[in-house]
Formats: sequence, structure tokens, C-alpha cells
Amino acid sequence: MPPMSAATITPARRLRGRLRVPGDKSIAHRYALFAALAEGPSTLTHFAPGADCRSTLSCLRGLGVEVDDGQAGTVRLLGRGFGQLCSPAVPLDAGNSGTTMRLLAGVLAGHPFSSTLVGDASLSRRPMRRVMAPLERMGAHIEATDGRPPLTIHGARLQAIAHTSDTPSAQVKSAVLLAGLHADGTTSIVEPAATRDHTERALTAFGGHVRVDGLAVSVVGHQRLQGRTLDVPGDFSSAAFWFVAAAALPGSRVEIEDVGLNPTRTTLLDVLRRFGARVTIEITAIEAGEPRGLVAVEGDRTGSLDIAPGEVPGLIDELPAIAALAAHGGQVTVRGASELRVKESDRIAALVAGFRALGIDADERADGFTVGGSAARPSGGSADARGDHRMAMAFAIAALAAERPSTIDGSDAVAISYPGFFETLERLVAPRDGTP
Ligand code: S3P
Repeated sequence: MPPMSAATITPARRLRGRLRVPGDKSIAHRYALFAALAEGPSTLTHFAPGADCRSTLSCLRGLGVEVDDGQAGTVRLLGRGFGQLCSPAVPLDAGNSGTTMRLLAGVLAGHPFSSTLVGDASLSRRPMRRVMAPLERMGAHIEATDGRPPLTIHGARLQAIAHTSDTPSAQVKSAVLLAGLHADGTTSIVEPAATRDHTERALTAFGGHVRVDGLAVSVVGHQRLQGRTLDVPGDFSSAAFWFVAAAALPGSRVEIEDVGLNPTRTTLLDVLRRFGARVTIEITAIEAGEPRGLVAVEGDRTGSLDIAPGEVPGLIDELPAIAALAAHGGQVTVRGASELRVKESDRIAALVAGFRALGIDADERADGFTVGGSAARPSGGSADARGDHRMAMAFAIAALAAERPSTIDGSDAVAISYPGFFETLERLVAPRDGTP
């Protein structure tokens, strides 16, 4: 076993600063996929620098797409057109990225060859039946081990379906729509709750057509897309950690420029207002259907928070950050979030174990958790990120509240979505015992 990386977090009084966060991971995956399926060249700037989107690029290379990411932050792809990806010589490695695996499964289902998608230990534990079932109904044949990766996809000429999903998941919706674009007829999916709609917006940006009617989304097969030059906004889910820290530590003010403000992603800002934070939002541009802008959050902490099941789909990646609020006083309760158990780690178990290790009260339930509630400052300690980028960042924000320095084991997991997270943290904090 390689030695585990560790980061030391020194308690902090407040955070102040103005910054940009890395490009949005969800949007970057989709732009890369549509660029590969489009005709002609695409240039994507502020492309997400984390390992997850690199996994998507390397899978696309394995499928015969010319990808040039030699210039930092810019990715150029030469599209092959729908149905024109090449049979890969070796298995395609999605690494830690569920989005890469599930969205590519939708694309590969409609290609006339067999391909295998593999992932790391975490991804190999994650459920894939949610995409396998609709893709098999469309005509593909998919082999898996007990519904988990590796996936061997035997592509076919697909037939459109009308799919009703019982999991609110943008990855499932996107896999079905991507397969639908390769199918004969009109494919539709109805979700149980609204999820992020980047696939719908990106498809339109690349010249395609999608119909949205409430929770129903449909596409006609065999559309033609054109390559584009697009800029990726900052990742709201990465910015979330700074927004939470600013809300939790009185006297803080964090301003994030050019951050994605798609309304399917920004529920956290409503939650922080409910918590008592001062939040200002200025939309500065809408590019490729994606609003972006400047968000400022000022700390003005007032109490506890209950997250209801209906709020969970709009907060799914922000729940670890929200939990960190409780380390700074008050209590956070989350219900209706059993999906957290099948993320990069079992985020309910990992969060409760890590918070306890930092000296924060934490209780686990099947579908959520309660953290915080003690009047005392957390002792600090040593929390294990369990290979999960969002756990590492949530523990870091929680540890800012502690009596003494803490250690985050497995801190290098942040490279999945936010390389440079710890360096940015150092730049933003005022240490509790330091100069004003
Ligand atoms: C994502 C969708 C969400 C989210 C993940 C990224 C996407 O997953 O948690 O980090 O890019 O579509 P689910 O669709 O499984 O909820």
C-alpha cells in the first residue's frame, strides 16, 4: 500500500478573499462527450482540471477521438460524429468517476461493438443497474458483476423507450438521453424529482434538440451536432466548501467569481440564507445556457438546520459541506438521503466516522445523519477521507472549528475535483492565534 497522504488543518478565526474555483466537473464531462459526438473541432476553456474529467478524456482517446489537452485549462477535441466512435483496443478506465462510466455506457450502448468500462475500487462498488436496465430495454446487452463494474457493453441498433426512473439521478437521465440520441424514434425519461440539467443545456449548445416538460425529458434519435468553442464556469460544488466556511465563521467574507449558477445546482445558497448567512448573487453571463456569476457569502451564523428529503436532489453533492456547518455550532440533520451511501464512499458512514474522530457528535441513520449539537468546541483529531474528495474537503472545513490542529488522512483525494484545495484554504484563512 502506498503511504497515505495527510493534510494538517489549523483552527481558523475567519476566511476572507476573492477567488475562482476550478471548472465545473459535471459540465466539463458533458462538453467533452458532446464534442466527441459532434462534427468538427471543439475548444473547451477552463476545463475541469480534476482527475475525473481526465478519465473522461482518456476514455474518449481510447475510442479514437483526437484530444489535445497540452495547454493548461484548454482542451481541443476533434469530433467523430454520432455513432462513429472506434472499437477500443483495451478496457476504458473511468477511474473514480461515476459520471464517466454511466454517461459513456449510454453512448457505447448505441455503438456496434463491444467495450469494457472499468473503474477504481470505489467505482467498482457502485450500482450500475440503474443505467443497465433502461439501456438493455433499448437493445444493448450489458454484462456486470452483481450489477457493479466492470461493465462490458455489447452495443446494438437501439430502439427508443419511455423510461420512468425511480432514482433522482442526472447520471441515469443523461445515460438514457445519450443512448436516445443513438436510437430510432423518440426516447423519453421521467424523473421522480428534478436533477441537474447540464446534459439538456449542453445538447442544445452543440446544436441539438431536447424537449423538457416538467420532469419529462425527451430526445429524437440520430441528430447531428456541431463542434463548439465553450468556456466552462467554476464548479458550484467546489465553491460550496468556501460558502459554508464563510457562513460558519463570523467575520468571514468569501467572493467567488465566474461560478456556475445553474438553478438545479444552487439550492445551497437558499439553505445558507435560511441559516442566517448574508448571500449576494450577481449573474454576469449566460453562456451555452448556463448562468454564471459572482457570489459573496458573509458569516453571520445563527443556528441549526434540517434538510428535508425533498431538498436532497438539489443538494446531493453539497450535503458533506453542509454537515461541516455543525462543527462550528448548532446541529445539522439530513433525512431522505440514502443516495449518499452509493457515492464515491458511503458518505453517511464516512461522514459520521470522520466527524466523531474530530470530536464532533454524529449519529447515523439509514437515510441520513445528525451532526453537532454540543456547546463545546470540537477537540480536533484525525479523520479518514476514505478516498472521497468531498469527505476530505468537508473534514477540512469542520476542522477549522477545532481546539487544536487536525489531520485529514487521504487528503490527496481532493485531486478528483479540486486540485489545489488545501493551498487555497491556506490563502483564505486567518489563523485563530495569528495576527488580525
Ligand atoms: C452528477 C450527478 C450526481 C452527482 C455527481 C455528478 C452528474 O450523481 O452526485 O457528483 O454529473 O451528472 P447522481 O446522478 O448519481 O445523483
